[in-house]
Amino acid sequence: MKGVILAGGLGTRLYPLTKVTNKHLLPIYNKPMIFYPIETLVKAGITDIMVVTGGPHCGHFMSILKNGHELGIKHLEYAYQENEGGIADALSLAKDFADGDSVAVILGDNTSDADISQAVKYFREGALIFLKEVPDPERFGIATFDPGDPSKIIKITEKPQNPDSKMAVTGVYIYDNQVFDFIDQINPSGRGELEITDVNNKYVEKGQLRWAELNGYWRDSGTFDTLLESNIYWAKKAS
Ligand code: DAU
Repeated sequence: MKGVILAGGLGTRLYPLTKVTNKHLLPIYNKPMIFYPIETLVKAGITDIMVVTGGPHCGHFMSILKNGHELGIKHLEYAYQENEGGIADALSLAKDFADGDSVAVILGDNTSDADISQAVKYFREGALIFLKEVPDPERFGIATFDPGDPSKIIKITEKPQNPDSKMAVTGVYIYDNQVFDFIDQINPSGRGELEITDVNNKYVEKGQLRWAELNGYWRDSGTFDTLLESNIYWAKKAS
């Protein structure tokens, strides 16, 4: 299995911090944000990794990640996302890199101490997404469960105004290679992006979406409040 970290976008929610560097290089305690998803992949045995980035500060990644060897990566590739066309658009750039294989994808602003190694080891086909209960479901992709079988997701809604549950789709996903066909089949959303939620709903339609709860700490650090929270969590954990 290959690993893909999505670190494009302009990080406008964190202006003016992201005027000087890419969001995913901002510090979370003693490391740049992107080290955390890299560590999650490497701990799960995934050492063939692509970082998709873009925007005015994309060159900064090379200064810190270099060839990735210091972080345990065996093979590191970079892709450049031309516009901020959404998470699924960024993932589409990893098609040749995936080369028919399955991919573990982590959003570059997500930090977690969850261990996904068993999920990676036993993954065969379809999609596996990781959910976590949140107090503010309007900010996330939210799962709707089958009332007759609560273990089954019947749809995911991106940032719902009236959420059906509090179970958020975290930015940790495992896909088989069909994901690239599904990305080709979706259209931009109202906010002009190719949404990963639409890709996940393709797997739902095919009856091939499974989910697991992400055990452990998880935050996306894309707002000032969550960035602060993550800093505090990881600083306490390190002490
Ligand atoms: O954090 C989990 C949530 O992430 C999920 O619950 C949502 O379903 C999913 O859509 C996403 O929502 P966000 O609104 O938080 O996504 P955001 O636009 O902040 O992008 C998250 C990361 O994805 C960002 O840190 C870098 C990457 N990205 C995003 C865009 C829009 C790219 O690489 N390219 C892009 O064009």
